[in-house]
Amino acid sequence: MADAVKAVLLFWALRLCIQAAFANPVSRFSVSSDKLVDLSHTFDRTTVYWPTLADNETFRLTTIEDETQSDGVSYRIKFYEAAEHGGTHLDAPSHFSKIGLSVEKIPLDKLMGPAVIIDVREKAARNLDYQVTVQDAYDWEKKYGRIPNGAFVFMNSGWDAFWPDKKKIFNFDNSTGVETYHFPAFHPNTTAFLVFQRYISGLGVDTPSTDYGQAAVFKTHEILANNSAVGFENVKNLGKLASVGAHVIAIPIKITDGTGAPLGLIGINP
Ligand SMILES: *[C@@H]1O[C@H](CO)[C@@H](O)[C@H](O)[C@H]1NC(C)=O
Ligand SMILES: *[C@@H]1O[C@H](CO)[C@@H](O)[C@H](O)[C@H]1NC(C)=O
Ligand SMILES: *[C@@H]1O[C@H](CO)[C@@H](O)[C@H](O)[C@H]1NC(C)=O
Ligand SMILES: *[C@@H]1O[C@H](CO)[C@@H](O)[C@H](O)[C@H]1NC(C)=O
Repeated sequence: MADAVKAVLLFWALRLCIQAAFANPVSRFSVSSDKLVDLSHTFDRTTVYWPTLADNETFRLTTIEDETQSDGVSYRIKFYEAAEHGGTHLDAPSHFSKIGLSVEKIPLDKLMGPAVIIDVREKAARNLDYQVTVQDAYDWEKKYGRIPNGAFVFMNSGWDAFWPDKKKIFNFDNSTGVETYHFPAFHPNTTAFLVFQRYISGLGVDTPSTDYGQAAVFKTHEILANNSAVGFENVKNLGKLASVGAHVIAIPIKITDGTGAPLGLIGINP
């Protein structure tokens, strides 16, 4: 083994011994790692954006500096640019409402809460244009109890398995022909039921939009925006979250005046 590697190992071994000997009291906030679920896709050139965006409007990462100094220290910094709405992202109320809150103004308590997972994987596999129904929500409640106030209701359609294959995600004949898109989402009636009768804080989907691919008007977006609720789109790993009893914490980049933003979304299983 190279001496440098030995030195590093020795350093960490010593450090761990010292930490163990002088351990601080255990923090009261602790979540065991096997309960944590990463619900966000990574961001890079393959990240899926709305197909009508120009190439220069998706994700770009360029190197500003990448140098190794004479003392061996390396210094690196990059520049990125991206549209707000792409990859795993948040829809702020301002996306579909002039008076709706922009990203940086959404209160933190409206970005965390109980998660409700509605599994429509079989229905969506049979019907690319599936829209989650009010009955689906009632069926969930029959099994698991009433949807809690302030919940985030997620559609698990299994679509994250197609990531980042744009053709399979949008099922288009023609990538810029929006009328040819096919993917599942929430029916606006279901959104209205969840917002007005269950007082949810937001909806989440593992597809590119909370309104389905064939939508010509975006009623689910309007209902969410008009009522200060948020949307999470292109969410992943919903199959790893318990159907009931889990919580989510959403951490969008706080873009001032942003209508949406790339999103870190953390799931915590019960
Ligand atoms: C992308 O390029 C097109 C065509 O050159 C241009 O009209 C548009 O403004 C550019 N978009 C951005 C965000 O730079
Ligand atoms: C794709 O659809 C767009 C919008 O409907 C249309 O303008 C364009 O001509 C279509 N392209 C092809 C190759 O069919
Ligand atoms: C949605 O609600 C409207 C108004 O109540 C009703 O006419 C329509 O049949 C509903 N559609 C579905 C698919 O539930
Ligand atoms: C949302 O609010 C706007 C502005 O008040 C209104 O025109 C629109 O019909 C509303 N949309 C829905 C689905 O309620």
